[in-house]
Amino acid sequence: MKFIINGGKKLHGTIHVSGSKNAVLPILAATLLADRRCVIHNVPRIRDVEVMMQLMLSVGRTVRWDGEHTIIVSDGKPSLKKLDPKLMRSFRASALFAGPLLTQFRTVRISEPGGCALGNRPLDDHFHGFRRMGVTIARSRGMYTLSHRGLEAKTIVLIAPSVTATENIVMTATLTVGTTVLKNAACEPHVQDLCDFLNSMGAKISGGGTNTITIQGVKKLHGTTHTVIPDPVNAMTFVIMGLATKSTIVVDGIRPDHLDVGLETLLAAGARFDIHKDSITLKSTGVLKAMKIQTRPYPGIPTDVQSQFGVLATQAQGTTLIHETIFDGRFAYIQELVNMGADATVCDPHRALITGPTPLHGHEIQSLNLRAGITLVVAALVASGQTVIHDAQIIDRGYEDIDIRLRALGADIRREA
Ligand code: EPU
Repeated sequence: MKFIINGGKKLHGTIHVSGSKNAVLPILAATLLADRRCVIHNVPRIRDVEVMMQLMLSVGRTVRWDGEHTIIVSDGKPSLKKLDPKLMRSFRASALFAGPLLTQFRTVRISEPGGCALGNRPLDDHFHGFRRMGVTIARSRGMYTLSHRGLEAKTIVLIAPSVTATENIVMTATLTVGTTVLKNAACEPHVQDLCDFLNSMGAKISGGGTNTITIQGVKKLHGTTHTVIPDPVNAMTFVIMGLATKSTIVVDGIRPDHLDVGLETLLAAGARFDIHKDSITLKSTGVLKAMKIQTRPYPGIPTDVQSQFGVLATQAQGTTLIHETIFDGRFAYIQELVNMGADATVCDPHRALITGPTPLHGHEIQSLNLRAGITLVVAALVASGQTVIHDAQIIDRGYEDIDIRLRALGADIRREA
């Protein structure tokens, strides 16, 4: 599948941000902790959610859409019989099944998870946490066997504040007798949303959203109804898209407090916008100044918007330094920007320099991965002429109906098989 984009046009109107991908994926995994019905609202209609639902069906939980953005997980217990290694390998969030399944079974076999190629993505912190809780782990031919004779509550210190390791350990600890304390935990809004979801199921978690999370194990969790937080990465992507195309659009359905450092960075570069309770209105902005972008765990600028800042830097005056501190394989998009006319150099796996402003022109390019793909859509909207983005189905993993929603803003974008 490809997107064909004729760029160089200003966008108009309002774009609504859907629910957070990285919140709903662990929340769906967490429903396996209870055998009761859960109703989840504000779920984005994206490919990763569909795969997660297939994976849940493969462990015997009945899960279905109820209307446009609500998912219902029916009463029922998971079974390990059909846990599909091929599905597990298709995306990273499948690793989130490990924790909930360990609370239900003494032995769980999971495959090495897949996901976007962003460089080295180990599971050592997940396994370090599980080992502390009494789990033994054996690896053979791309499969991990996790076994235990009863989970133990412990104090666990993560070496990296990994998002999915934090989520896995928190989920496991909710049904582990005693008090688990997780230090150097990830503080991302989606971790907080998972903790809120679990507490609404009867878990006893305090400190979610801080770097020390305390979990008092309970015997059983019950069903619940929950509304997923808005997606902060989508929100920041659309704000940057408006600025890069010099469009005075409104980005709504958001939590501006989840975007603090990114928004402050844009203001310091000269961007003009009004921040409301749940929306941002972009105002007419001249040429932005170069920025210094350093990706950090929350509340810093997330690695998932690094490339979007990269395309904005091609339109800013001066040289922007991008310091990607989280992953070592997230600069492949820069070559595609260079093909479109950008003046950019990758210094090493963690640093790149982008000098602007440079006009961009249409080109034939590859999506590469989810966030690089949406970044290249933004670049194509800025560029003069026609851009063809191949492998664009990757973008459907995290952005709902992106072509339809951009057309509603006046963009000239179409999807072709
Ligand atoms: N790390 C370790 N050991 C581990 C796990 C991670 O050293 O056991 C390191 C990684 O190498 C990396 C850093 O910790 O340097 C952060 O990795 P993290 O584990 O936090 O990433 P993740 O949990 O695999 C989630 C998101 C990613 C997002 C990262 C960072 C989900 C499903 N995925 O991945 O989202 O980039 O956190 O915020 O929540 C995306 O949405 O496009 C995406 C890639």
